[in-house]
Amino acid sequence: MIVRRIVLAFSLSALATIAIASTANIGERQQIMKSNGGATKPVVAMLKGEAPFDLAVVQKSLANYQDNIGKFVTLFPDDSKSGEKTSASPKIWEDMAGFKAAADKFAADAKMASTTIIDETSFKANMPNVLKNCGSCHEAWRVKDPQ
Ligand code: HEC
Repeated sequence: MIVRRIVLAFSLSALATIAIASTANIGERQQIMKSNGGATKPVVAMLKGEAPFDLAVVQKSLANYQDNIGKFVTLFPDDSKSGEKTSASPKIWEDMAGFKAAADKFAADAKMASTTIIDETSFKANMPNVLKNCGSCHEAWRVKDPQ
């Protein structure tokens, strides 16, 4: 009897841990994307000519994209398909390799831009190519209505 109770208590706490784990994964991946959003704002302002070109800020944003995206794709375990208003598309779990390829392309484009962007002219020529990844990944791997 005592053993059964211990087993029951153990499975309940294991379940609770799983639930907390998925919530944490969703929260962490949304946090990473929020930081991508934060890193993109000043860069878009420069592209639009609303802020003066600042190479250090551009390089920081490019580094931010590369640092975060590797971690981002590890935050999609099977038990994190819904909850926390996630807007991750179910397609991610049907084609994890395709999703990771989109992330790798983003990281590769950001890395390339970090060497090709040396001044305002090269910034205007190369940055849009990096930012295209935001929209194309969202288009393919995100849903409009959070679940
Ligand atoms: C490899 C795919 C991918 C790339 C590249 C990508 N995103 Fe995302 N983004 C996602 C996914 C998936 C979500 C949904 C996460 C969730 O809700 O679980 C998301 C969500 C977001 C969100 C909403 C976060 C929230 O508060 O819920 C913002 C903002 C965002 N992305 C900005 C960006 C910006 C800016 C870029 C480019 C610099 C970018 N993303 C590049 C896949 C991507």
